[in-house]
Amino acid sequence: MSYLKLSGGPALQGELAVQGAKNSVLPILAATLLSAGECVIHNCPKLKDVDASIRILQTLGCRARWEGHTLIVDTAGMTCGEIPDGLMREMRSSVIFLGAILARCGRSVLSYPGGCELGPRPIDLHLAALQALGAGIEERGGNLYCSAGKLHGSEITLSLPSVGATENTLLAACGAEGTTVLCNAAREPEIVDLQNFLRAMGADIHGAGSSTIVVRGGKPLHGCTHTVISDRIAAATYLSAAAAAGGDVLLRQVDYRHLSTVTAALKEAGCTVHSGSDWVRLRSRGALRAIRPVRTAPYPGFPTDAQAVLMAAMLRSRGTTLFIENIFENRYRHVAELLRMGANIRTEGRVAVVCGVQTLHGAKTVATDLRGGAGLVIAALAAEGESEIAALEHIDRGYEDLAGNLASLGAQIVRVDK
Ligand code: EPZ
Repeated sequence: MSYLKLSGGPALQGELAVQGAKNSVLPILAATLLSAGECVIHNCPKLKDVDASIRILQTLGCRARWEGHTLIVDTAGMTCGEIPDGLMREMRSSVIFLGAILARCGRSVLSYPGGCELGPRPIDLHLAALQALGAGIEERGGNLYCSAGKLHGSEITLSLPSVGATENTLLAACGAEGTTVLCNAAREPEIVDLQNFLRAMGADIHGAGSSTIVVRGGKPLHGCTHTVISDRIAAATYLSAAAAAGGDVLLRQVDYRHLSTVTAALKEAGCTVHSGSDWVRLRSRGALRAIRPVRTAPYPGFPTDAQAVLMAAMLRSRGTTLFIENIFENRYRHVAELLRMGANIRTEGRVAVVCGVQTLHGAKTVATDLRGGAGLVIAALAAEGESEIAALEHIDRGYEDLAGNLASLGAQIVRVDK
């Protein structure tokens, strides 16, 4: 089993180009099913979740090949088959394929996507929206039997701005005759990126980035070429690492506007942050100060995916910082592992109280989930002595070469593949 071996201490120095956005490319890969053509997707990160999505496409009869960081997907041979249970379970967000398959094939059978490390991951909003567009959905024996003779436009309001439900609805709406108005839609930058991809396929869609998105569906779509936006959470991770370890790091290929709540928190903690059209630079002396309560919220609020990495940066700060996790029920699983490194954190439900300590010490730890694992890496960079981090399969889901990137900035970190 692979693990990371780190020695804390060195400050981080240098420049890094940030990977393409995982949470953008996954719905975009589902969207390729909307046309029987070839899509060329540039700036595609090489991640476990992307591999899982490619295997889903291949199971459905599509072809995909890499050319560097460009992924070329040909969906002409789609057979409208089923997504096997194992693949559905491998990646919780595989439910995102449902809307596109219904739009292309009119039917789909897939197993109920399991929960994950963050707690139950309900899909009731996805299913209600697809039913409003005319899909018949029957849950039987852990499977979803979905049929949609012809999808039709509808006015849909989400009870909460779910990212996945927004994406599933937009993909199905592209295949629905008539106009769909989606209210209380998620406003994340990845939704805007998906809209741009769909427009490149010929879709008539407007409003992404706001709470109301309008799709005039039923038009035949075609293949396209698209460049995926930068991964704002990967950027937040590297900035938090520099804040914690100290140093001077410049990130390229970053839209600073997408991570303004994270850079604002790091500035409040005492870092110097400058940004330009496609770069962000952070300088830190490593000794941070506590900040006002961090409340996770749907975009443009503080991203839940950056909670663990900012928490890791605050472990040695002077004072106490409160975290309130409002999006997921169980997103403090990394705390127990941080305590092994000498952190002082108390959790109660959605609240975590982080009291800064003078020193963290290296320890053997195990990643519990994708962003929690990244948090352990950041804490180890700020700790005295050696650390090991196992269960890298979590980290590999969302970070392309995290260890290599941090090593290029001067971190003493190696990946040991057993
Ligand atoms: C997306 O997950 C991201 N994943 C998550 O990133 C991210 O944390 C999350 O959005 C919030 O920003 C991808 O884009 C692949 P939601 P998603 O639907 O779509 C509840 C990472 O680390 N809910 O916005 O699953 C749900 O339980 C991952 O990269 C329902 O109740 O998130 C949660 O409490 C982790 N019913 C809240 O809404 C539903 O039908 C927000 O979930 C759907 C969601």
